[in-house]
Amino acid sequence: MPCGLLAYTEGHNPESNGVTDVIKRAILVGVALFAGASLAHADGDAAKGEAVAKVCMACHAFDKTNKVGPGLGGIVGRKPGTADAYNYSDAFKKYAATAAAWDDATLDAYLKDPKAVVPGTKMAFAGVKDDAQRADLIAFLKTKQ
Ligand code: HEC
Repeated sequence: MPCGLLAYTEGHNPESNGVTDVIKRAILVGVALFAGASLAHADGDAAKGEAVAKVCMACHAFDKTNKVGPGLGGIVGRKPGTADAYNYSDAFKKYAATAAAWDDATLDAYLKDPKAVVPGTKMAFAGVKDDAQRADLIAFLKTKQ
């Protein structure tokens, strides 16, 4: 927290004058805000994501093989609904008709609550509710081409 950092430096800089104090404060607040922002958008950990992905394997392969669900090899950056020879539901085709290529944001929303993003999808999966687990999962998906 910025406040904690400020209290700490003030307590340990008895010799600093007013001007450098102001500058130091500005820098610290900037650093604290930056750290907070990058935490919020932290890239996931692909190794941890591999463990999360086990729940997908009942239905998906992480190459181009279709199972119950379409093959997920190369899913990040691919247009939704375009796995070769996979028979998507009508609901999914409707979604795919206007959707942009899968990216971090759209995968995040879909994997959190598939039926909210694609009402009527035949993907019978409640979603990964934990934000960090989804970030890890998406990092893992990026390693699969
Ligand atoms: C119970 C089986 C099942 C599980 C478990 C499951 N899926 Fe699916 N998934 C499907 C099906 C079926 C579809 C096709 C949806 C449709 O046509 O409506 C799909 C579609 C998708 C799509 C869209 C693919 C495309 O070509 O655009 C993504 C992405 C996806 N799943 C990711 C995942 C991930 C990641 C997990 C694990 C967290 C997961 N799914 C778990 C069955 C499942």
